[in-house]
Amino acid sequence: QRAGTNICRFPLIPVRGIPLMCYIANNWDSIWAFRPDPSDLLIATYPKAGTTWTQEIVDLLQNNGDAEACKRAPTPVRSPFLEIFSPPPIPSGLDQLKKTDPPRIIKTHLPLQLVPTGFWENKCKVIYVARNAKDNLVSYFHFDCMNLTQPEPGPWEGYIPKFMRGELPWGSWYDHVKGYWTERETKNILYLFYEDMKENPRREVERIMRYLDLSVSDEVISRIVELTSFKNMKENPMANYSCVPAPVFDQSISSFMRKGEVGDWRNHFTPEQSKMFDEDYEKQMKDVNIPFRDLI
Ligand code: A3P
Repeated sequence: QRAGTNICRFPLIPVRGIPLMCYIANNWDSIWAFRPDPSDLLIATYPKAGTTWTQEIVDLLQNNGDAEACKRAPTPVRSPFLEIFSPPPIPSGLDQLKKTDPPRIIKTHLPLQLVPTGFWENKCKVIYVARNAKDNLVSYFHFDCMNLTQPEPGPWEGYIPKFMRGELPWGSWYDHVKGYWTERETKNILYLFYEDMKENPRREVERIMRYLDLSVSDEVISRIVELTSFKNMKENPMANYSCVPAPVFDQSISSFMRKGEVGDWRNHFTPEQSKMFDEDYEKQMKDVNIPFRDLI
């Protein structure tokens, strides 16, 4: 516990087999009972797959590209994080949701089977963003170094097997991406890839616009692409998580907006680590054919 705060690296407790931070696990019944409005949108991701970027795009689309309107509050206020619980006085995601009128942009990292059933019963729209496993892992490692409420990441070489075994908060990346992929058609989930967003952000912004049944001008699309570039979001205090105090996010260790690139894993994995990871990946992903890119 850090001086003057009740913040510490919280232990994980499994909820239906998924390791979650104890504050989430201890409040699980109220999270599971959450009833969304049919107009609410859910943005679901495995941590570090491009959640914040997608939240910003959606908020701008809903506000017709109005940059000032989207600076009304920091990301977690504009777009509440469903399951987050921290020690008081930090408001929980559920508290934040109570204060916000629908239609809301709700963020979650829960795997599909833990998403409160009201989202499916009310046929809420759901956007899932997936990122290639190696970059996702690298991003999570740096995040766990700076997010002082997550379990200690330990050294890099030990972190890789924890990811492969699904021991990190929110569990297995492999099961997470597969769970949403398998249900994407039956549940009308828009399944996006971080690599596609990097390759052609305009195409992906338009895809999101169509899914949300919105129509904005070409000029507004261009503005949204510009406003949600990595550089602009990194400099935007309402999108770069500078709202979170240093005892929680120590951005002197690593920025929340760290690098925002595809293929950064090559700067981290040794050839041996990459080979070991690829062999295991092959086994864990053999039952699906999700078109991930830039893995080898
Ligand atoms: P890196 O650590 O690789 O830089 P999430 O929002 O799900 O926590 O994901 C955070 C990751 O997305 C970080 O990856 C962050 O830099 C990246 N990111 C955030 N905004 C981005 C943007 N506008 N363009 C590209 N990457 C972005």
